[in-house]
Amino acid sequence: MCGIVGCILKNKKAAPVLLDCITKLEYRGYDSVGIATLDDNGIHVKKGSGQIKEVDEKIDLSNMLGDAGIAHVRWATHGIPNKENSHPHLDENENIAVVHNGIIENYGDIRESLEKEGHVFKSQTDTEVIPHLIEKYMSSGLDLEEALMETLTIIRGSYAIGAISKNNPNEIISARKDSPLIVGVGDNEYFIASDAPAILNYTNKIIYIDNGEIVILNEEGVTVKDSKRNILDKEVNIINWTSDMAEKEGYDYFMLKEIHEQNIAIKNTLIEKDNIKEIISDLDNINRICFVACGTSYHASLTGKYLIESMAGIPTDVVLASEFRYSANALNENTLVIFITQSGETADTLKALKKANETSKTIAIVNVLGSSATREADYVIYTKAGPEKGVAATKTYISQLVCIYLFAAILAQNKELLDSLKKVPSFIEGVLENESKIIEIAKKYKDARDFFFIGRGLSYPTALEGALKLKEITYIHAEGYAAGELKHGPLALIDNEIPVVVIAPPGDSYDKTMSNLEEVKARGAEIIAIGPCNDEFIKYEVADSFCIDDEISEILAPIVYIIPLQLLSYYISIERGLDPDKPKNLAKCVTVE
Ligand code: F6R
Repeated sequence: MCGIVGCILKNKKAAPVLLDCITKLEYRGYDSVGIATLDDNGIHVKKGSGQIKEVDEKIDLSNMLGDAGIAHVRWATHGIPNKENSHPHLDENENIAVVHNGIIENYGDIRESLEKEGHVFKSQTDTEVIPHLIEKYMSSGLDLEEALMETLTIIRGSYAIGAISKNNPNEIISARKDSPLIVGVGDNEYFIASDAPAILNYTNKIIYIDNGEIVILNEEGVTVKDSKRNILDKEVNIINWTSDMAEKEGYDYFMLKEIHEQNIAIKNTLIEKDNIKEIISDLDNINRICFVACGTSYHASLTGKYLIESMAGIPTDVVLASEFRYSANALNENTLVIFITQSGETADTLKALKKANETSKTIAIVNVLGSSATREADYVIYTKAGPEKGVAATKTYISQLVCIYLFAAILAQNKELLDSLKKVPSFIEGVLENESKIIEIAKKYKDARDFFFIGRGLSYPTALEGALKLKEITYIHAEGYAAGELKHGPLALIDNEIPVVVIAPPGDSYDKTMSNLEEVKARGAEIIAIGPCNDEFIKYEVADSFCIDDEISEILAPIVYIIPLQLLSYYISIERGLDPDKPKNLAKCVTVE
C-alpha cells in the first residue's frame, strides 16, 4: 500500500507541489504523511501520523525550503501509525531520505546485521533498512545510483522507492519492483509517483516504469536504466485524464460522485466491444474459463460465471486470488483465465496472474492504464470508468460488469443482449432520480447492528456486493446470502432487529425470491425490498421498498440493482458521521499478500 511522489523543480519550492501531489494519492493510504526536501543545507523533513489535512494544520507541510523532494502517504504494514514510522525514513546521519511503497520481506535479517555494524534504527518499519543500506554503500565510496543498485541486490520483496541524498542536491533516484511507479515529464520539471493522477496538475506526459528499472531525475531531465544500468529509450505517453476528473466536482465525497458517474462509465466502457471481439477471435480451443479476483472484483467475476455458463455453455470457475495458489486449478492451454482488478496492482491477483501465465492464456480486465496487470496479461480489456478515488469500488464494479456482459454476449453471439446494454445508462439515471427515497431508508436503518442481503441467481453476487459495501463503509455487520440458502442455517438469526434487503428483479427467480422474503418476514425481519415498478410489487406489503423500471429484467439486473445498494451504504455511512471515502483499515490499492 502507500503512495510515493518526488519532484525536481526549477527555482520553485518543491514542498507545496509535493503536498498537492500526495493529496491526490490519499486513497492509497491515509494514516500518516511526510515530506523531505533537499537544498544546499541538506535534507529537511516534516512528517506525522493522521490524515494529510490534520498533519498539515499542525506542522505546515508546504513551508519547507528546497526545489527538490520526496513525499509519502502511508497505510501501515510494519509498525503502528506514528511519527517515527511515517516516511520519509533517514539514515542516522540524515544524509539519505527514502520513501517506499511495498514490503521488504528480509528486513529483519538486514536490520540485525546493520545493527551489529553500529547502525541505530528509529522505527519499526521494514523501509528503514533502505536509507541505512544506501548510506553504508555511499560511505564505502559508491555514488547514490551505485549505492541504490547495491541495495537492490540485498533487499527482497516489493518496492517503489524514491531516494534523495545530501551529497546530490539536485537528484532523485527511484526504483521499482512489483509496486507501481510512473515518471512525469513536465516543462523543466520532473516527477515520480505511484499513480498518474498525482501529477496531472503539472504534466500529462507519463513514462511507465517496469520491474527492475531505475530512474534518475535531475535538472537536465529523466534517465531510465535497466538493472544492468543500460540507458533505456522509454515511450512517453500522453494521458487524457485531467486532474479535475479526479476531483470531487461539488459532491461531498468521491464515492457519491463516482456513484453518479456510473452511467457515463458504462457508455465509455461499451466502446471496448471491438477490442473484446478481437480478443475472442484470437482465442482458440478454449473449453474452460476461470475468473480470478478479490473483493468487489470477485463479485463481478461471479456474475461472469452465471452469464458465460448460461449463454455460452462454457464451464466457468471463479477463484479468490488469495486462494488461487492453494487450489488445484488444473489449468492447461485450453483454459482461459480472466483476472479482474480495478487497480491492476492487487498483489494477490498479480501473483495468481504470474502463475496462470505459465500454462494458460490470460486476460486482465483493468481500470488503471499501464498498471502491472496490464503488462503481465496476454490480453487487456479496459474498464473506462476514469479515476476512482473512493476506497469502496462503485463505478469500476459497474464497468467490470459491462466488460463481462460484452464478453459473454460476444462469445454467445447474443446480439439482443448487446443491444440492450446500450439502454442501461438511462435506467441508472432513473434510479438516481429517486435517491431521496434511499436517504429516507438510510435514516431509518442507520443504527442497525446487522443486515442481511439476499438474492437468487444473478442477484446473488449483487447481494454479496451490497453486503460488502455496507460492511466496509458503515462498519455494520452484513451478510450476503443466496436467498434459498437462508433456511439452511442463518434463518436462526433472523428477528425484528435485523433488516433484510431482498433483491427481486422480474424473471425466473422472482417467485422463489418472494417466497424467501415471506419466510424472513414471518420471522419478524424488517424487509427492504428492491424490485420492479409493477403493480404486484408496488402493492406488496413490506417495511420499505424501492422499485426499478420493470424493463430491467433479471439478466440486466446486476448492473442496475446494485445502485440503490451502493447509495444505501453511502447514506448510512453519512448518517453515522463516517467518511465513506476512507474506511478504516482499508486502502484503495492492496499491494500486500
Ligand atoms: C471493495 C473493494 C475491494 C477491491 C479488492 C480488489 O469496495 O474495492 O474489495 O475490489 O481489494 O481490488 P482490485 O479490483 O483493485 O484488484
